[in-house]
This record gives sequence, C-alpha cells and structure tokens, in this order.
Amino acid sequence: MALVAFASAKGSPGVTTAGLVLGALWPRQVLLAECDPSGSDVAIRMTAPGGAPLNSDRGLVSLAAASRKGLGDEVILAHSQQLDGGLDVLLGVRSPEQIGGMGGLWHPLGISFNQMQAADVLADCGRVSATAPQLPVIHSARLIVMVCTATGSSVAHLRERLSSLVHHVDAQLGVVVVADPKQRDAVKQVWTVLDQMSVPVRHRWHLAYDPVGAAFFDGRGHGRLEKTQLIRSATDIAAEMSALVATPHDFDMAQAAFPGQGER
Ligand SMILES: Nc1ncnc2c1ncn2[C@@H]1O[C@H](COP(=O)(O)OP(=O)(O)O)[C@@H](O)[C@H]1O
Ligand SMILES: [Mg+2]
Repeated sequence: MALVAFASAKGSPGVTTAGLVLGALWPRQVLLAECDPSGSDVAIRMTAPGGAPLNSDRGLVSLAAASRKGLGDEVILAHSQQLDGGLDVLLGVRSPEQIGGMGGLWHPLGISFNQMQAADVLADCGRVSATAPQLPVIHSARLIVMVCTATGSSVAHLRERLSSLVHHVDAQLGVVVVADPKQRDAVKQVWTVLDQMSVPVRHRWHLAYDPVGAAFFDGRGHGRLEKTQLIRSATDIAAEMSALVATPHDFDMAQAAFPGQGER
C-alpha cells in the first residue's frame, strides 16, 4: 500500500490533528505512525478502547529494538496498538532524548512503511527542517502533505521548505491549509502563492479550523463528532488522498467490484 507523510515547516498548524482525523476517516486499512522526534502527543491525548491508557512502552522505540529481525508488516503491527474508535497507531518517542537510540532506523522505516501490505501508513513527521532526523521517512513517501495555516508567515516558511524538499523527492506533493471555513479568500491567497512557485504542488486541501472538532483529538471532545466542521471537511480530503495513493491493484479491485463505472 502507500506511505503518506504529513509535516509542517514551522509552528504548530495541526499536523497531529490532521493525521488523527484523516486516519479515522481513511477508507482503507491504515496505520498512523508518529514520527515526530519532539515526542508523542497521541499517547497523551488519546486512549485505548474503553478509555484505558495507551501503552507508552509499545511504539517506535520498542520497534527500533526489535528491528534487527527485519521491519515487515508483522513486526511493525506488533509494536502498534489501537485507539478508542479503532484507529491503529504506532506511538512515537516519549521525549526527544529517545531518538538517540533509534540510530539509522529512519531510512529503513520509511521504506518499510511504504511497502506495507496490510495498511496504508500516515506518518506524522511533525516539524521538519533541513537537518531533521525523520527526513528519510518523508523522502520515502508516495505523497508528502505539508500542513500550514493561512497566515503570511506560515506560508512563507512552507515555501522555503517545499523548495528544499523538492530536490530530494519524486513523491507527489500536497498542501493542507487549516483555516476557518469562512476564510476562503485567505486560502485562495495561499494557492496563489503556490502557483507562483516552480515547485509543482498539485494537491491542495482546505481543512476546517474548528476548535469543537479538534477537541476530540485533544482528549476533550463533547457532543457529536460526526457533525463537526472538522469531520465534514476531512471526509472529502481522506477520500481524495487515499484515492491518490491507491495502488493499481486497488484500482483493479474497484473495477472488478463495479465494472464499467470508470468509463462513464
Ligand atoms: N483543525 C483544527 N481546528 C482547530 N484547532 C486545531 C486544529 N488542528 C489543531 N488544532 C489545535 O491546535 C493545537 C496544535 O495542534 P496539533 O495537531 O498538535 O499541531 P501540530 O501537530 O502541528 O503541532 C491543538 O490544541 C489542537 O487542538
Ligand atoms: Mg504534532
């Protein structure tokens, strides 16, 4: 299946929230992998089924220790766990100090994520710089999604990062702008900036800035999640993104299930 890497250039625009919400809505089997070296947020914000705490000893660090046996689906899934709601997650490091023990794992990890048979992998790579240790994961992705807000500084930093990334990858590039649903003009301005770049950012999505919806992914949700603007905006994004990275095999299956539909 495929690896989709999510990252930001600066600030905290909502990468982790986007990963959680898109993972929850992903139409195929999916694993959310926390590859942010600054430390796991999912372990703190989310719970296991029934509201029990997640096992913070099982995740990227335990996977690193086990990786001598190889990094196939089985070993990756053995170090993953399920969130309340059903999303499978590979928890990230507890603190930045722990990444020292990960050594050269980032590169094989990226390749293994992209080659997983059982699931697509959404990697939350957090903030990236030119020297970020998790860059090899981003470089292995089939689709790289940079997350930003519609502010001038967020977009300026995004441009810088995209210009540098494009030299290292042949992945598809996409941008998610997190902005109030009413701020369509501000989002259009972001697209105008991207149009003026030589970097081909073909895929562009507007994810709702919605504190009520985001609270559910911050361990504080109340009410009906499915009615929130966040979920409504993310549903189409998850469908489009997953279709972009569907393998030819997935297309064949769809064709077999619904023959003739593709020709209309
Ligand atoms: N779409 C959104 N709408 C409203 N608030 C959001 C949204 N995404 C993130 N947030 C809030 O912003 C803060 C940072 O979000 P987070 O997803 O952790 O960002 P990052 O991973 O980029 O650091 C959190 O308090 C989160 O609830
Ligand atoms: Mg984050």
